[in-house]
Amino acid sequence: MGYLRPDIAAMSGYVPGFQPDDIASWIKLNTNENPYPPSPKVVEAILAEIGSDGASLRAYPSASSQKLREAAGVLYGFDPSWIIMANGSDEVLNNLIRACAAEGQDVGYVHPSYSYYSTLAEIQGAVVCTYGLTESFTIEAFPEHYHGKIFFLTTPNSPLGFAYPLPYIEKLAQNCGGILVIDEAYADFADYNALELVKKYENVVVTRTFSKSYALAGMRLGLAIARPEIIAALDKIRDHYNLDRLAQAACVAALKDQPYFRESCRKIIETREWFTMELTAIGYSVIPSQGNFVFATPPDKNGKRVYTALYEHKILVRLLSDPLLAHGLRISIGTREEMETTLAILKKIG
Ligand SMILES: Cc1ncc(COP(=O)(O)O)c(C=O)c1O
Repeated sequence: MGYLRPDIAAMSGYVPGFQPDDIASWIKLNTNENPYPPSPKVVEAILAEIGSDGASLRAYPSASSQKLREAAGVLYGFDPSWIIMANGSDEVLNNLIRACAAEGQDVGYVHPSYSYYSTLAEIQGAVVCTYGLTESFTIEAFPEHYHGKIFFLTTPNSPLGFAYPLPYIEKLAQNCGGILVIDEAYADFADYNALELVKKYENVVVTRTFSKSYALAGMRLGLAIARPEIIAALDKIRDHYNLDRLAQAACVAALKDQPYFRESCRKIIETREWFTMELTAIGYSVIPSQGNFVFATPPDKNGKRVYTALYEHKILVRLLSDPLLAHGLRISIGTREEMETTLAILKKIG
């Protein structure tokens, strides 16, 4: 159609993980959601926000998400001027590209990691450069002076699960001439995070999501932490009412219930360690994970065979279409019971 930009008409678009309609009949381990519900205080806050007649919904929400930025600031140790809230971290990843890379400029990321960066860069008309990984999970041939406008580092890496060591990330920040976005979607399940680098380097941005550790994928909540100059630019780009009232109420309540949050993460990490051990014992090779998922390779290195067998038992895991990853599967960590069922099937199918 002549109405469309030819590059948009030609691009294939991102394919998100499968979300079945009859979700309750599946053990769903394909999109790294939290198997536990959010804090009961989140539900209370949403109901209180709606009220008995929904009258509050007539009015626009806070455009600046001020209360959330304050609550996040207290938790992470930053002034609210260093924080922007987003309608899922995907929104802020998109706006980072729009803020930094014009048409024809370079956007880089590691392959394999979160391929949505590539889609977002294509939409902007930017040039995508990917860097591979070495056997020891360092970035292959990363230049001493990287001139791209923006580089995305997913740590812990998805789908592989490993985290880059902090000194390594710091070196990347020094090597990047543009912005280094540290996508910490899974950092709450890891032993450490890179927040301190935001204070130390003006080109570092950290992004987080509430979809995984806070069990709020359905509400669409994320954030970025960076220098106020960067935050101010992102603020101009976003939709002015990017977070609805219910999402804002949910987010404040979730951030404030840290004991619930910590316990939820603790259970997932404990199950991850147990599941890794059990998979290894049946001959799988499993990359030690710092996220709420593992990347596991069956003994016959046939990810498709195992994916199909699990699917037939109504267990959904992620088989990635990339030939680099076809030997294995990314399996989200569910409840202990869900993982015991999954393990029993894996043992049965061999
Ligand atoms: C590495 C990474 N970044 C960002 C996201 C997007 O998160 P959100 O749900 O906050 O948009 C995901 C979701 O799976 C992810 O894996």
